[in-house]
Formats: sequence, C-alpha cells, structure tokens
Amino acid sequence: MREVNAVVLENKRIAENVFSLTVSTDDEIPIRPGQFAMLGAGEHVLRRPIAVCKAEGERVTFCYQVKGAGTRYLSQNYRAGERIPVLLPLGNGFFVGERETRIAVVGGGVGVFPLISLIRACAGRKEIFSYMGFRNKAALCMEYEMQRSDKLTIATDDGSAGFHGTAVQAFMQDIEEIRPDAVFSCGPVPMLRALKNAVAGRGIPVYVSLEERMGCGVGACLVCVCDLTDGRHARVCKDGPVFEIGEVEL
Ligand SMILES: Cc1cc2nc3c(=O)[nH]c(=O)nc-3n(C[C@H](O)[C@H](O)[C@H](O)COP(=O)(O)OP(=O)(O)OC[C@H]3O[C@@H](n4cnc5c(N)ncnc54)[C@H](O)[C@@H]3O)c2cc1C
Ligand code: FES
Repeated sequence: MREVNAVVLENKRIAENVFSLTVSTDDEIPIRPGQFAMLGAGEHVLRRPIAVCKAEGERVTFCYQVKGAGTRYLSQNYRAGERIPVLLPLGNGFFVGERETRIAVVGGGVGVFPLISLIRACAGRKEIFSYMGFRNKAALCMEYEMQRSDKLTIATDDGSAGFHGTAVQAFMQDIEEIRPDAVFSCGPVPMLRALKNAVAGRGIPVYVSLEERMGCGVGACLVCVCDLTDGRHARVCKDGPVFEIGEVEL
C-alpha cells in the first residue's frame, strides 16, 4: 500500500454523470485487477473508494459516477496538472486460477469498472465472455476496453443499446453454451443476488466484488463490515472486496 500525491493527467466526462480520472504516480505500482484506491476529496475528511480500472506503468485510471458530495468534488476540482492524494493498491482483488481457462465476467453499473481491469489482465490468456449491464445507452462507456473480451454482450435496462434486460439475464441465456470455469462479478447487491440464485447448484465458482460504504479503506474503522454466511464477519476493504459468492450474505 502506498500513499501517493499523484498528478492528474486527465479528468473527463465519459458518459452521463460518469468521469474518467487518469493520474500519474511517481513510479509503477504493482496493482492486481479488482484492487481499489482511496481518493482524496478536498475538505471531505473521508476519502472515497474507487476501483482501479486501468493501470499502465505509472498511469492509473479510475472511472467514477457522481453520486454525492465526494464524487462531485472529484469531478469539479481536479484538473490536469493538479495533485490528488491517492492511497493504493487496496483490497485483495480478483484471482483467476490456472485451471480457469473460460471465464464469464458479469457487471452492472459502476461495477463494470473493476471488471475492466480483470478483462485487461486476462485478455489473450483466458477465453473471456463478458456481460455488462447499464441503465441505458447514455450510461454506456468504456466499451472499447470491454471489447478485449472474446465475446461481449452489452445489456441495458430499457433496451436502448444491446440486449434488453440485465447482464445476469443475458449471461443466463448463454451459460449452457459457454460453460464457464468461473464467474467474476461486480454490481449492485440485487444484481449479485440474482446471479447467486441463477447459478445455484451448477457447481461454478462465482467471485463477487462488493461495493460497501467505507471509512478508512485499510481495515481500521470497521465501517465496511459485512456478514459471512457462517456467522462470522469480514471487512470488505481488507478481507475483500472480492469474496466467493457463497461466503457472503447478500
Ligand atoms: C471497493 C469499492 C470500489 C468502488 N469502485 C467504484 C468505481 O470504480 N466507480 C464508482 O463510480 N464507484 C465506485 N465505488 C462506489 C463509490 O465509492 C461511491 O459511489 C462513493 O464513495 C460515493 O461517495 P459520494 O461522496 O459521492 O457520495 P455520498 O454522499 O457518500 O453518497 C451518495 C449516495 O451513494 C450511496 N453510496 C455511498 N457509498 C456507496 C458505496 N460504496 N456503494 C453504494 N452506494 C454508496 C449513498 O448511500 C448515497 O445514496 C466503489 C466502492 C467500493 C467500496
Ligand atoms: S473501511 Fe475502515 S475497516 Fe473497512
């Protein structure tokens, strides 16, 4: 984990209410797909957790949706050349086993961004079937990155682009044909629940990245604690954010 006063290279709008922020760190920091950073947001005491979407040498890109005061601050206050406090890399990230050669990637909303880092890491090494869900066409972004998959299905809730329905529905239409060795997912909890129910009993391991509210991002404050199915608890920031789907209460 490093504390970096990174230089903003670009902070631009890429879809309705969604921005892409690229920063330069001092030197190349090893980052696994699915890891995240805590980004400083000015006078807001708590930093905001945002997944690493792309890491290319010293350049790290985050994509974020403006939700409240913190992300609005990010969108309005960081221009090229300015400095932003960044703590990274955090969390466990996704791990794809050697034997998992055919993987399905199922994302929804801002959950597609950590999955882009997974697609980038696995492209050319694994067969990747991606199902990415957005509210509508205006919310669709970073499609060129998702196209590194062997097969990409875009889904929209209103049918304005791609498959009319959710990413989970699109995935379940194909599951018999693609027979993935493992599924990697990130998105709103109702989507993860739908995925859990849909794949139950098929014997396919499913790994989900959770997007809980966070305070510190490093395991100290317990704001992000989630319930495990065996009655224990886990810190999403430190023990996750990636869990096997059967491990966590959704
Ligand atoms: C590990 C991790 C990775 C994430 N990666 C991304 C990413 O790549 N891109 C992205 O756009 N967002 C991501 N998020 C969510 C992002 O952190 C929140 O949207 C952000 O912190 C909201 O801050 P805010 O100050 O703008 O909004 P606030 O004013 O704090 O909240 C605005 C609204 O968002 C809700 N909210 C706040 N935090 C979360 C959260 N963590 N999950 C769900 N709802 C929340 C609040 O309940 C409220 O309704 C990630 C979260 C985690 C934990
Ligand atoms: S955010 Fe503080 S312990 Fe997880």
